[in-house]
Amino acid sequence: MTDRLQDVSERTGETAAPLGPTGRPLREFAVPEPLATHGPARIIALCNQKGGVGKTTTTINLGAALAEYGRKVLAIDFDPQGALSAGLGVQTHDVPTIYDLLLSKQHDPADAIQHTSVEGLDVIPANIDLSAAEVHLVTEVAREQILASVLRRVSADYDVILVDCQPSLGLLTVNALTASHGVIIPLECEFFALRGVALLIETIDKVRDRLNPAIELDGILATMYDSRTLHSREVLERVVDAFGDEVLETVITRTVKFPDATVAATPITSFAPEHQASKAYRQLARELVFRGAVA
Ligand SMILES: Nc1ncnc2c1ncn2[C@@H]1O[C@H](COP(=O)(O)OP(=O)(O)OP(=O)(O)O)[C@@H](O)[C@H]1O
Ligand SMILES: [Mg+2]
Repeated sequence: MTDRLQDVSERTGETAAPLGPTGRPLREFAVPEPLATHGPARIIALCNQKGGVGKTTTTINLGAALAEYGRKVLAIDFDPQGALSAGLGVQTHDVPTIYDLLLSKQHDPADAIQHTSVEGLDVIPANIDLSAAEVHLVTEVAREQILASVLRRVSADYDVILVDCQPSLGLLTVNALTASHGVIIPLECEFFALRGVALLIETIDKVRDRLNPAIELDGILATMYDSRTLHSREVLERVVDAFGDEVLETVITRTVKFPDATVAATPITSFAPEHQASKAYRQLARELVFRGAVA
């Protein structure tokens, strides 16, 4: 039987490529060519108003994977919880933060940039001060465009800027969407995943209409996927039914290594470089270069 199958595939030249979790043939994206020059950055917001879907984890590990491929990456902590800053092990107190940059043009954004343990991955941190920003910004002129004007001042030195949004659709997130060329929506593979996505897409559409005509949806990223459960597979199937090719081929599986890496304040790509999750984030980095979302 096996012989006969081999015969058939030899005759027809067909190979039965296995299907990935999104129902498309599994493929490895090519390792990107090194860049001869750097910048200006393409800005990508990691956005979903639902909490705990993997926005911060994706910002950290996608950022680290792109840096491994020689891209210069700046990650912006845009959540007062400061999880991105903690996950990358940088200072958040007695240092300039994104809040200071939003509130006053006197601060030079370059002074707020901190290097991380990963070469090529820098971060502008946040702390709880940022929770006051929405109140302060409400009375500003062009209040939705303040982050855009901050990022314009650092964009030349980076290939990509990743903005880790907080779980809300308030003024900070609208600032992130207004500043961005693209959005990635991380979506946890669980029952209520699709709840709220329509509202998020509506918000992106409004920002496109009124504030940032060029913003694109770079992709929907399925996270915390567990191939052993029918539930996870069904959710992913529904997500693909709803969004088709907008769903990135790379899928991030659920693994306990992420909380471990968070405790170590380092990307999983450094903490456990050979772990399947590290490989998945490198595959995501390659897919985004392949799709043209990153240089
Ligand atoms: N693929 C995964 N497998 C297992 N745990 C994960 C995975 N991705 C993230 N986590 C864990 O789930 C929790 C939430 O992830 P994360 O902080 O990245 O989500 P978030 O969308 O940024 O949350 P918030 O909306 O609160 O900012 C964290 O404890 C993180 O370590
Ligand atoms: Mg977060």
